[in-house]
Amino acid sequence: MPTVDVALGERAYSIHIGRGLLSDPAYLPARLSGQPVAVVSNETVAPLYLQTVHESLLAAGAKPFAVILPDGEAHKNWQTLNRIFDALLKQHCERGSTLVALGGGVIGDMGGFAAACYQRGMNFIQMPTTLLAQVDASVGGKTAINHPLGKNMIGAFHQPSLVLVDIDTLATLPQREFSAGMAEVIKYGLIRDADFLHWLEANMSRLMARDEIPLAEAIYRACRHKAEIVAADERERGGRALLNLGHTFGHAIETGLGYGVWLHGEAVAAGTLMAARLSTLLGWLSTADVARIERLFAAAVLPVRAPALGAERYLQLMRHDKKIQDGRLRLILMKSLGEAVVSETASEAQIAEAIRECSQKLTTDL
Ligand code: NAD
Ligand code: GLY
Repeated sequence: MPTVDVALGERAYSIHIGRGLLSDPAYLPARLSGQPVAVVSNETVAPLYLQTVHESLLAAGAKPFAVILPDGEAHKNWQTLNRIFDALLKQHCERGSTLVALGGGVIGDMGGFAAACYQRGMNFIQMPTTLLAQVDASVGGKTAINHPLGKNMIGAFHQPSLVLVDIDTLATLPQREFSAGMAEVIKYGLIRDADFLHWLEANMSRLMARDEIPLAEAIYRACRHKAEIVAADERERGGRALLNLGHTFGHAIETGLGYGVWLHGEAVAAGTLMAARLSTLLGWLSTADVARIERLFAAAVLPVRAPALGAERYLQLMRHDKKIQDGRLRLILMKSLGEAVVSETASEAQIAEAIRECSQKLTTDL
């Protein structure tokens, strides 16, 4: 059973990766015994996995209760967040109580933000059930909700005390969601691990068939990268920003189309190709490199063209990016495949050109 440790001193925690973890109370910490535990999930995931988690928590001596939220990115907002606070208060939760986030990145981000705010910070455990959440969102303590003007704009850093990645949950994940998660797996290869990128190219058809052995390896390697990056730069003052490859463009797609129209991972894939194209305009990547990325995304059934929102609209949306400093847009670009940098080098005209080239034939259809 592979475990990845996130080395954050007094906030250190483990990511356990394997099969059948949700049904095994041995993975739950002793401190849950006798305590109320809020299991935050949604209308889709709860019917699949809530009972299993509930039974494990009971076996660990905890007093679980469920908070079931509506499903979807469009509900990642204050109204939904308040439903978690209502339930925590009604159940007399204390700061020492625990919140479990059982679901994808939306539930993880919202549950984590509720845990960060409730009585100024309560214990929380991530039980991610999408590929995207297993390889990225559940690790590293970024929690947030969306604002109509920008994605993930209201949030906090609040680390979980444990992450349980139960690979069995991927069996019920719809194909489109699985592909979206693969965009974040590919991201690690593009930003810092050319060997992993090569391995992904060689194994993508087995991964897309959800072959358990390469899938577990991909998740493990992705979590190791995420843990290393977070341990080195928890608050994104440096290298953690590289995890945002494709995200500035991608967030513009998500906000511009309306939350939930394109999945986060789909928007990241199209955004990564814009970043790649921009990297060629700066003389860093070759067109052959961009074609290689495009082939890998296509093999993962991800979009290789972005919606045609218009370059001006993209730029307007991108000006809300959290990486902006002193009003200057900072983008994650690639010097080569496997080496990303934070860059302010590109002019607005070059950014607009990359946007136009990657979105010119586009519709919002995938
Ligand atoms: P999601 O949480 O919306 O889940 C995708 C869909 O799959 C939902 O309909 C969900 O109900 C369903 N689902 C989840 N698990 C399932 C399962 N096992 N079987 C069947 N259906 C299942 O989306 P996501 O892609 O997991 O996460 C995207 C969110 O994560 C975005 O809001 C993004 O901003 C956030 N995110 C956060 C971080 C971070 O570091 N905190 C990193 C990346 C993304
Ligand atoms: N997903 C980006 C980060 O965790 O920093």
